[in-house]
Amino acid sequence: MLRTLFLALIVTGAYSHLATGGLAQRYDHSKLDVKISVAEGLLNGPTDGRIVLMFAPNGTDVLNDTDVTSSQNKIFGKNVFSLGDKDTVTFSGGSNFSTETGVYGWPDVSLDAIPPATYRVQAFLTKYEKVTRSDGSTVSVHFPCGDGAPNVDATGSLFTSAVDVDVVGGTQTINLTFNNVTAGEEFIGKEIGGCNQGNYEDTENLKHVKIRSKKLSEFWGRDMYVGANVVLPAGYSANDTKTRYPVIYAQGHWPADEGAFGYGRPAAQYVKFADAWNNGTIPGTNTTAARPAPKMILVTFRHEAPFYDDSYAVNTANLGPYGDAINDELIPFLEDTFNTIRAPYARIQQGGSTGGWESIASVIFRPDLFGACFSSYPDSLDFHRHQDIELYTAANAYVRADGSFVPSIRTFDDNGTEVVLATVALENHWELTFGTASRSFNQWDIWNAVFGVQGYNNYPLEPWDKVTGEIYPAAVEYWKPMDLSNYIVSNWNNSKNLGVNLAGRIYVYVGTWDDYFLNEGVVEFQKRTDAVGGQGWANVTILPEKPHGGNYQSREIWDYLELLENWIKDHAPDGKTPLKQSVSGPKTRGNMWEEVIRRGGRQAAVARQGPPSIETKGHVKVGTEVRASVGRWDPGVALKAQWVIDGKPSCEAFKVKESDKVKYTPEKKGQLQLWVTGSKRNYATETRKSNSVTVGK
Ligand SMILES: *[C@@H]1O[C@H](CO)[C@@H](O)[C@H](O)[C@H]1NC(C)=O
Ligand SMILES: *[C@@H]1O[C@H](CO)[C@@H](O)[C@H](O)[C@H]1NC(C)=O
Ligand SMILES: *[C@@H]1O[C@H](CO)[C@@H](O)[C@H](O)[C@H]1NC(C)=O
Ligand SMILES: *[C@@H]1O[C@H](CO)[C@@H](O)[C@H](O)[C@H]1NC(C)=O
Ligand SMILES: *[C@@H]1O[C@H](CO)[C@@H](O)[C@H](O)[C@H]1NC(C)=O
Ligand SMILES: *[C@@H]1O[C@H](CO)[C@@H](O)[C@H](O)[C@H]1NC(C)=O
Ligand SMILES: *[C@@H]1O[C@H](CO)[C@@H](O)[C@H](O)[C@H]1NC(C)=O
Ligand SMILES: *[C@@H]1O[C@H](CO)[C@@H](O)[C@H](O)[C@H]1NC(C)=O
Ligand SMILES: *[C@@H]1O[C@H](CO)[C@@H](O)[C@H](O)[C@H]1NC(C)=O
Ligand SMILES: *[C@@H]1O[C@H](CO)[C@@H](O)[C@H](O)[C@H]1NC(C)=O
Ligand SMILES: *[C@@H]1O[C@H](CO)[C@@H](O)[C@H](O)[C@H]1NC(C)=O
Repeated sequence: MLRTLFLALIVTGAYSHLATGGLAQRYDHSKLDVKISVAEGLLNGPTDGRIVLMFAPNGTDVLNDTDVTSSQNKIFGKNVFSLGDKDTVTFSGGSNFSTETGVYGWPDVSLDAIPPATYRVQAFLTKYEKVTRSDGSTVSVHFPCGDGAPNVDATGSLFTSAVDVDVVGGTQTINLTFNNVTAGEEFIGKEIGGCNQGNYEDTENLKHVKIRSKKLSEFWGRDMYVGANVVLPAGYSANDTKTRYPVIYAQGHWPADEGAFGYGRPAAQYVKFADAWNNGTIPGTNTTAARPAPKMILVTFRHEAPFYDDSYAVNTANLGPYGDAINDELIPFLEDTFNTIRAPYARIQQGGSTGGWESIASVIFRPDLFGACFSSYPDSLDFHRHQDIELYTAANAYVRADGSFVPSIRTFDDNGTEVVLATVALENHWELTFGTASRSFNQWDIWNAVFGVQGYNNYPLEPWDKVTGEIYPAAVEYWKPMDLSNYIVSNWNNSKNLGVNLAGRIYVYVGTWDDYFLNEGVVEFQKRTDAVGGQGWANVTILPEKPHGGNYQSREIWDYLELLENWIKDHAPDGKTPLKQSVSGPKTRGNMWEEVIRRGGRQAAVARQGPPSIETKGHVKVGTEVRASVGRWDPGVALKAQWVIDGKPSCEAFKVKESDKVKYTPEKKGQLQLWVTGSKRNYATETRKSNSVTVGK
């Protein structure tokens, strides 16, 4: 109860920006400053990046708990541009409306509002690399380095010593110095390339593969890699190329140490499991398995990317051709290296959450490559519910029409009562401290990058204002090709013929108590695909009172692997229901890179723009009305117009909307123009001038 009340209070504060138009009056005094300098020799050249400054409760390591649901830290973020080692960065104020250049504080806090007490204080600099993409746009982003892209303290980050500080509540300056670099892991494997995707040592059962992606390297203008961890079944012999195995492609986050099926770097559990399975013993028991061992290869991917710990395994305008890199470069390499069965029925996609979305999207976009997906509690399949946000119809992503806050993370207590752990507003504001322009390496931002197109500012065209939550329907419109039920229905009958071709190949599972409300998007997906395909077109299982996590249909892993194996057997050429070649033809393919970048890259962003235009033709007489349009701008750009005669304002600037037609009756002679100034968070403010018309007698 207390927590919910607390959330409501702080979110109300944030939401009030909408009404007041800014925060300046709330934080117009400046008491506590933090000045951060850089020890000599730590930066090799001018550096762009994000500084994250944290105040943790006395005696607590600042990185001990930075989670949105539980952190007691006060977290501040500020961008730096061309930082040199003679420069000092000053943090003051906070919750700055300008997140591009100002200080953003969480939870909705200014430095001046930090209660007097003792804190442990430390700052970190995430370094960005300025790159020019193949479509000509230049961006400053962080490229991860074999560490799964944490949102702070990533490999290569600068950090200050942690200091214990008494915040006194009056005028005070805290001095910090970046004096160290986060070392990251020491890589010992024999794979190619630097730290991107890491380098790991092979064991008998577990092989690591990494290739330089030609397509990604070309797109980013630097070397880019994709990797895979390959678990081989016991008895596998590289020389026995006659014995070939189906492959389970297990999608998910960066495969770090240990973890569940589809996660663990050495996929430790799976290795143990594969051993036991092959020896006929059910893991953790001494029970002999009822069935002989399945012989399958398990593959997890390493595709840490700018923006997140993985790329979502599809082609996107903001991350580049990761779908092609994985499916057309890495998988062929795996198939040349290992004895796999090279046919769709023997390539299965599975995963949960992020991996749930990746696995279903992989099959929906590439029916020519993969046989089926077993997708568990996937990220929103249908944006009628993006988590709990009614993205197509709501006006605000944070606050509903009735004034209540949209929840983002929940749990259920012993009595089955829902307890909200974070709202969408709280979580988005928390993300903002780690990066602006969708660069926080957190969940809502990676969705913006993957589902949306590139904005005119070269960063993801965000679907709503990250501070206020105001939704921009025109930006949401660009998400539609990544709304998977919309994609299926749109391609139901055409040359892709997905209604026929994907039938019987899509399995989805979710629980009604999903921690992130992902059950809601699954319900929408089921409703829309059932409406065109008949009930059960997609095999959707919704289990009551199951939270986020676990295997498909909450099965034991043994049971689950048998299910996968049976699907493969049934759909093999000699199986009960062989997968027809016609359903896996090349025409079924979607998410083509050329289309994605044409629709979502720089050229498309430029083509969306237009200058204001005076529509009245010919000579205009003093005292007669002229009409003009205000130009075309990206969604969310706030516009102010002004009439100008002979280069001098002839009226006050006034607010306009993109759809407005504006009118003016010039009172004097001269060259008349309409100037329109557009401004948006993270965009350069720009004034565009219309054609000029002559006003005469
Ligand atoms: C801060 O924590 C330390 C132990 O870590 C303790 O000795 C000290 O008294 C605490 N200071 C305050 C003001 O609570
Ligand atoms: C880390 O946080 C946990 C719980 O939030 C706390 O019990 C523990 O003492 C903290 N450890 C350090 C080193 O700060
Ligand atoms: C917000 O940031 C702008 C740009 O850096 C700065 O001019 C302004 O003083 C800041 N306001 C507050 C309240 O921090
Ligand atoms: C911080 O550094 C400035 C000079 O850069 C110095 O004048 C000031 O005394 C320092 N403050 C503290 C608390 O060390
Ligand atoms: C840098 O940080 C590492 C890890 O915390 C530490 O072992 C090392 O002593 C630090 N180096 C300096 C110069 O402070
Ligand atoms: C596989 O073949 C290679 C060379 O063809 C040979 O060196 C190796 O010993 C063989 N391995 C096995 C397990 O037979
Ligand atoms: C299973 O057999 C393999 C050899 O094929 C052996 O290395 C492994 O230790 C055995 N695992 C178990 C759990 O008995
Ligand atoms: C399996 O059998 C071994 C040896 O008999 C015993 O030590 C172990 O506890 C048993 N494990 C289980 C899970 O029953
Ligand atoms: C569950 O309900 C019981 C009986 O009403 C109550 O005593 C208990 O505190 C509740 N538990 C929680 C976690 O709310
Ligand atoms: C399939 O095609 C028919 C005829 O072209 C059309 O009437 C129908 O609406 C289409 N169905 C879908 C789901 O697109
Ligand atoms: C859906 O899939 C499950 C296995 O996950 C299977 O038991 C069930 O029969 C399938 N339902 C239909 C209608 O095919």
